[in-house]
Amino acid sequence: MKIFRLIINIIPKEFKNKSKYLLFLFFLGSIFEVLSIGVFLPLLTELTSSNIEVIQKFKLFILNFFPNLKLFNWIYIFLTLIAVVFLIKNLILSYIVYYQNKYIQDLTVNLSSKLLEIYLKQKFVFHKMNNSSKLIRNINVEIAGFIAFFTNILKSISELIFLSGIIIFLILFNPLITITVIFLFTFLSYIINLYTKRTLDKLGSIRLKFSDTAIKNLQQSFGAIKEIKIGNLENKFTSIYKFACLKTASAISLYSTLQQIPRLIFETFIVFIACFILSITFKEFDNSYVLTLVGIYTLTAVKTSPAVVKIYLSIQQAIFYLPAVNVLNKEMNLKFKKNNAKYDFSEKNYFDKKIILKNVSFQYSGTKYSSLKKVSFEIKKGEKIGIIGESGSGKSTLVDLIMGLIDPSGGKIEVDHFNLQKIKNFWQSKIGYVPQNIYLMDDTIQKNLILYNEKNFDKRNVLEVLKRSNLEKTIKNLSKGLKTVIGERGSRLSAGQRQRIGIARALYRNPKLLILDEPTSSLDKNNEKLIIDEIHKIKDITLIVVTHNEKILSKFDKIISLKDGKIKKIRIQKR
Ligand SMILES: Nc1ncnc2c1ncn2[C@@H]1O[C@H](COP(=O)(O)OP(=O)(O)O)[C@@H](O)[C@H]1O
Ligand SMILES: [Mg+2]
Repeated sequence: MKIFRLIINIIPKEFKNKSKYLLFLFFLGSIFEVLSIGVFLPLLTELTSSNIEVIQKFKLFILNFFPNLKLFNWIYIFLTLIAVVFLIKNLILSYIVYYQNKYIQDLTVNLSSKLLEIYLKQKFVFHKMNNSSKLIRNINVEIAGFIAFFTNILKSISELIFLSGIIIFLILFNPLITITVIFLFTFLSYIINLYTKRTLDKLGSIRLKFSDTAIKNLQQSFGAIKEIKIGNLENKFTSIYKFACLKTASAISLYSTLQQIPRLIFETFIVFIACFILSITFKEFDNSYVLTLVGIYTLTAVKTSPAVVKIYLSIQQAIFYLPAVNVLNKEMNLKFKKNNAKYDFSEKNYFDKKIILKNVSFQYSGTKYSSLKKVSFEIKKGEKIGIIGESGSGKSTLVDLIMGLIDPSGGKIEVDHFNLQKIKNFWQSKIGYVPQNIYLMDDTIQKNLILYNEKNFDKRNVLEVLKRSNLEKTIKNLSKGLKTVIGERGSRLSAGQRQRIGIARALYRNPKLLILDEPTSSLDKNNEKLIIDEIHKIKDITLIVVTHNEKILSKFDKIISLKDGKIKKIRIQKR
């Protein structure tokens, strides 16, 4: 029952009515399935010329509506009836199949895009703490797992509805035999289930764990391709990946075997029961009734045994994918803050005066020490600020705090006397940021500059920004210009060109504050000098540059040096 609550929790509201409609369809389908068995009853009684009271009443009932039918042989009438019922039944079932598949596909799209949205709207710290391969797995594999789980639950519900219809029909037909058969079947299923459930549970969690590892190994293999080639590590990485795959594979193969064996057990059992029923009935009744009985039971056996097997398989599969439901339920319940539009800054010329940091500290969760300790300083509008310090001294952390990507654990940051936390979204829209590792997408240069934000596309701004970041010539030399695709992570560009694209991307936002985190760390002397000159040319902007290289900072206003998370010195320079 807890599972049903989880499912209801995960299924989006838009799907509530669709789900009810689907259940209704299953119900309708099952009525027609039962009808398609029952419709043979009149024919069988007619053929064996046995005298069953219900059928006589049925004949009178038909004649009541269509008196003309008296002229025909009953056999023809019943044959026509069978044909019509099957036609209608299968039309309805085709529609149900179509509707169910569409429902499932829509649900998959809806859930996976919703989960991506939830992840993207989490605070930045969340992404520092969670490996992206885990998040990607949740969106791809776990959603698929949940859908597999849910489809199987749907399947068993629809088969159960069908079975209960058949059972009601059979009980009306012959209560004693039917109830005995049901009892035996339930008992058998229980025994089989007892033996397989625990194994399936275990296999389910093995699948979860190792499919995660497999994706991670794949990403790392391609991510470190240069190192792998140079170190001759191809075989090593292949075997690490293969190991994870093998674990998943053996879980799945054992699981499939466990799935298929019970079908054979059930089949054997059905034949046993059929023979048993025949051996007791043929003595008690006259031959024509036994014939009808055999006819109806053979029909129901042919129809229900796949249903019973399907229910069994579906439940086993559902158990296998159960871990996915729990994972997804947890992820879908992650909260995120809605855009905080408490203040309306649209009119105000914002960030007029200064940014103030007062005793700002920061400690990453899971660490014992603070990465920043009581840092205080201020940045006036238009100032050029350099931040220096050894690696690990807290420079990137400080910059993340100023951008509002992480919140101080102590102290506060103010922008024009507004608490930064309260105006975060607005503040962030004013910042251009060039990270230490620029992430370029395998798409055109233009898309990389505007980050898919086609709505406010401004060609003039693009050209302007390319000039400012010294990319004009580079792009003129490319045959497709701005439409050139630059490869995974910009692999078709040089380090210097990548750095410039990063700068152009930041400038395209027309930022009031531009932040560069170690802009020259991956560049040679030549490119370093070019970038530095460009940085010096940037005017009318507040600038924060994090660097190892003090040479860049000769014309800066203020240089803040950090050591072990504390401010060692603030040097004011004259320009
Ligand atoms: N996500 C994180 N979890 C735990 N500790 C972190 C995390 N990110 C950075 N740190 C730690 O915080 C300190 C400062 O890191 P950082 O600001 O990146 O330094 P810098 O940019 O000066 O090289 C380092 O000791 C680093 O190990
Ligand atoms: Mg850093």
